[in-house]
Amino acid sequence: MNITILGGGGFLGRKIAERLTREGRLGGQPVTSLTLFDIAEPPKPSAAFPVTALAGDVVDLPEAAVPAGTDVIFHLAAVVSAQAEADYELGRRVNLRGTDAVVDACRRLVAAGGRPPRVVFTSSVASFSATQADTLPDEAKQVPGNSYGAQKAAAELILADASRRGFMDVVTIRLPTVVVRPGRPNKAASSFFSAIVREPLLGLEAELPVPDTFGVWICSPRRAADWLLHAAAMDTSGMGLDRSLSPPGIETTVGNMLKALDSVQPGASALVRRITDPTIADIVGTWPPAFTAARARALGFVPHEPMEDVVRAFIADDLEATRRDRGLIA
Ligand SMILES: NC(=O)c1ccc[n+]([C@@H]2O[C@H](COP(=O)([O-])OP(=O)(O)OC[C@H]3O[C@@H](n4cnc5c(N)ncnc54)[C@H](O)[C@@H]3O)[C@@H](O)[C@H]2O)c1
Repeated sequence: MNITILGGGGFLGRKIAERLTREGRLGGQPVTSLTLFDIAEPPKPSAAFPVTALAGDVVDLPEAAVPAGTDVIFHLAAVVSAQAEADYELGRRVNLRGTDAVVDACRRLVAAGGRPPRVVFTSSVASFSATQADTLPDEAKQVPGNSYGAQKAAAELILADASRRGFMDVVTIRLPTVVVRPGRPNKAASSFFSAIVREPLLGLEAELPVPDTFGVWICSPRRAADWLLHAAAMDTSGMGLDRSLSPPGIETTVGNMLKALDSVQPGASALVRRITDPTIADIVGTWPPAFTAARARALGFVPHEPMEDVVRAFIADDLEATRRDRGLIA
């Protein structure tokens, strides 16, 4: 299988690249090549098959990023939530025009006689709005409360239509907020959901801009990677025209996340400071705190693990690397 990851240098792109190079197979088929594409050249994991790393803009997607014979494209390149809200031009350009470019790359493959590639697209919980009391069913209407969510919802429709036309075979995963994100706080409005676990585990303070009772729909990086890899290999013949899924995440509250943190590292949550940030609170305040995810379960997407396991997975997978990246250890 020839695989491309657009946004291959990002948080989830690197996780997928690691899994593919470690496992060497996708859906029972051997991986034969991997192409990683991002604004800056992504790091190349060592692999038993050729790995190509390319730098460029997804809006001007070069042919080399999606070469002839590509079987699977993970389309993860995006301008994320708070940045897309702060910079309307940039968000619209990358999240919409970038998706157009993926459609055109697939059309080129098909016009040259290739098979329509499987495209795995990452949409978001932010494409919906709801109150804190809601649990959204699969047929809930997408009414985004921010530009990022609107761009993701629009991209879902464009990709589903391209799939109907035979240019690609798309599966869109509307990801929950992924925690615990390693590294530093980033431009996502959801950044604090990771920071309140990660920073105390690093011995640092974190800021919490919502009340402890705030409900949130989350998943771990391990589970997000499982879902994206499942989406890349699953049988799509029963999906019909609706190519989007809400996967079975974790329905929890910020307070429960802090309890899980304390159960793994007693007293750690004392480093979390309650602050007021109306911009962030307004963005995340429209995101639904729960989904039924019935369709995804029926299509074989594995359900979430307990919150304590999410904290432990971060410690096992990412804590040391985060310490090193941030210069907290020699
Ligand atoms: N992490 C989450 O909580 C979460 C939740 C819901 C949806 N998603 C979606 O999942 C995908 C991956 O998220 P992530 O957390 O890895 O984000 P990330 O920001 O770490 O990765 C996105 C990557 O896209 C790249 N990119 C941005 N503009 C580009 C351009 N013009 N050309 C090429 N590359 C460009 C960035 O450099 C970055 O490496 C994104 O589409 C995001 O919207 C993530």
